[in-house]
Amino acid sequence: MLRKILVTSALPYANGSIHLGHLVEYIQTDIWVRFQKMLGNTCYYVCADDTHGTPVMLRAEKEGITPEQLIDRVWHEHKSDFEGFHVEFDHYGSTNSNETKEYAEAIYCKLKAAGLIEVRSVEQFYDPVKNMFLPDRFIKGECPKCHAKDQYGDNCEVCGTTYSPTELINPYSAVSGAQPERRNSDHYFFKLSADTCQQFLREWTRSGTLQPEAANKMQEWLGTAGENKLTDWDISRDAPYFGFEIPDAPGKYFYVWLDAPVGYMGSFKKLCDADGIAFDDYWKPDSDTELYHFIGKDILYFHALFWPAMLQHAGFRTPTKLFAHGFLTVNGEKMSKSRGTFITADSYLKQGLNPEYLRYYYAAKLNGTMEDIDLSLEDFVAKVNSDLIGKYINIASRCAGFIHKLFDGQLASSLPQIDPKPYYKQIAEDELESAKKQGGSFAVAQIIPGDEDLFGRFRKRANDIGKAYEERDYGKAIRQIMEFADIANRYVNEKAPWAIAKDDARRDELHQVCTAAIELFRLLTIYLKPVLPQLASSVETFLNIAPLSLRDVNRPIISHRINPYQHLMTRIDQKLIDAMIEANKETLAPPPSPVRHAEAQQHAIAPIAETISIDDFSKVDLRVAKIVNAEHVEGAEKLLKLTLDIGEEKTRTVFAGIKSVYEPEKLKGRMTVMVANLAPRKMKFGLSEGMVLAASGDAPGLFILSPDDGAQPGMRIK
Ligand code: MSP
Ligand code: ZN
Repeated sequence: MLRKILVTSALPYANGSIHLGHLVEYIQTDIWVRFQKMLGNTCYYVCADDTHGTPVMLRAEKEGITPEQLIDRVWHEHKSDFEGFHVEFDHYGSTNSNETKEYAEAIYCKLKAAGLIEVRSVEQFYDPVKNMFLPDRFIKGECPKCHAKDQYGDNCEVCGTTYSPTELINPYSAVSGAQPERRNSDHYFFKLSADTCQQFLREWTRSGTLQPEAANKMQEWLGTAGENKLTDWDISRDAPYFGFEIPDAPGKYFYVWLDAPVGYMGSFKKLCDADGIAFDDYWKPDSDTELYHFIGKDILYFHALFWPAMLQHAGFRTPTKLFAHGFLTVNGEKMSKSRGTFITADSYLKQGLNPEYLRYYYAAKLNGTMEDIDLSLEDFVAKVNSDLIGKYINIASRCAGFIHKLFDGQLASSLPQIDPKPYYKQIAEDELESAKKQGGSFAVAQIIPGDEDLFGRFRKRANDIGKAYEERDYGKAIRQIMEFADIANRYVNEKAPWAIAKDDARRDELHQVCTAAIELFRLLTIYLKPVLPQLASSVETFLNIAPLSLRDVNRPIISHRINPYQHLMTRIDQKLIDAMIEANKETLAPPPSPVRHAEAQQHAIAPIAETISIDDFSKVDLRVAKIVNAEHVEGAEKLLKLTLDIGEEKTRTVFAGIKSVYEPEKLKGRMTVMVANLAPRKMKFGLSEGMVLAASGDAPGLFILSPDDGAQPGMRIK
């Protein structure tokens, strides 16, 4: 029976770039979806950018653009990163869509009608300068335990203590620097503590929807029956907030985590409308379709408690299963910007590294549990080169040429009978040998097969490999596939087509051997296709066949003309990895040592000018200016034309000699500082109505100034 499946990956935040940690999830999901599609199941894969919340709002403000402009730009970046790694969504949307808004409102209204929404007054830190309530992440201060300065409102990065922002010593707003006040405001709560929610969740989390580790975590969070450990969930935030306003609650917005998972529905709705799919079939309570969410272990709480409780009480179906995975470490450690291991998707691709190397490596490491997975860069290079190039590609590259040169591209009309036992024995012996060298022992017997022909054995294993894919134990699938690749190579080694080819009398034998090798290679390609879709597509072209599906396992290609062999994949070049790490290193400026500082003063800085009075200084009217436009000036070697907003009715035009160091596109939306009362100057290219300030010295570079966050166009600088 063919299945109907809807699959999602978590929606990445629209205020950051996709990195290799994210890709653990998206690649993992994509492999699963491709596998389902290869089986012939109906499987839709949707995702979207998670766009709402304070960070997006503040970042847009900092860049001098609207949140909509910011999320639009990031959406395109994310989309191209995913495409670069062959992550193929059926729809990639945004939570800032009408569809998501409608479902979020509908769910909220149903919860309200069910008596599960309650309004309560909450005391929180408020930034009196910025006029907004501050999320924990935007409050900083001194750690109450170790007294480290500038720690975030939720935990100390120095000593690891967690606390609430009200415990910080000398708290300040990370947005404006102001001392926050405590203020009260009405908040909307989803009553997760209600009996109906607790009861439902107790059942749901035990009904096989979760991996064992996740189910245990849930038990911890839920407590035993009667304990009622769950507390109500605050789902509202006060203006200013970038999000959806709550119906009938002006100035109150849905907290980003309320509408984020609703984005799964919103994105799917868009796909349904475009492709004529019946949305309700997938979301009605007794649906016969399946719904799976791939998520990281950090967001289990939201997906295993809030989300199913929301769906259940708003009259929708709940997820069939949650697939939670662990976190990525690089070289055994947390990704780090200073070590250069916080690697963005874009920087990987920009080095020209093949995305399928990473897809393969992740697949080999994933096992369907919540364990963290490690990208050891040395192992990455070694494994990809040895498995993909040394084993898999090697089979085709050693045999395909003969088919072309000597048989006009035509494969033989039958396959030979091959007894795989000797090859298994060879492998076992080799492994025993190397195990002995390392002082270990090795159980050989279990891998030696019975009386089976090699092709039969290869084909029969489709079930085992399929089961491993289905269970997201891709590592197991890859181990089985590579075991076959080993066997196939032993076969080619033993037959040595390059030797047979020297003997004209052995043409038939050569034809058989190469045809067999190509068929083994084709079978391996089918099994690897969910992981290596691009490579599989090149192989399909080379073999001159239609796109491979799992059914094709039983359809060997014989008496068939293939195309000339073209190089399918090259080895990883360690140099590219080194360059990628270098490119991701966020160079932390060396701490200024007193000696160096004094030296710098002696050699590098220009002498300080003559003393002036405060009156002299205040003659200069300095203003915060927003660069609303920046463009090249035709014929000007050094100048950029800037359009500046300093809060006046009309913008000002200033020609600035910064072309050598700034891209106009990068300047647009930035805040800077200008001299607003400088006499206008007629220049060759037009009238310059002021001057922007920039720093320069003996060392190369020219640096325009920026005011701190929160400064508004027109503010005076004194
Ligand atoms: N926006 C939320 C998800 C909302 S879903 C309704 C979010 N976004 S995220 O960008 O921080 O993360 C997106 C997904 O990537 C999450 O499932 C997260 O667990 C995963 N990962 C982010 N960093 C990761 C690693 N370093 N390693 C593995 N997965 C990681 O959470
Ligand atoms: Zn501390």
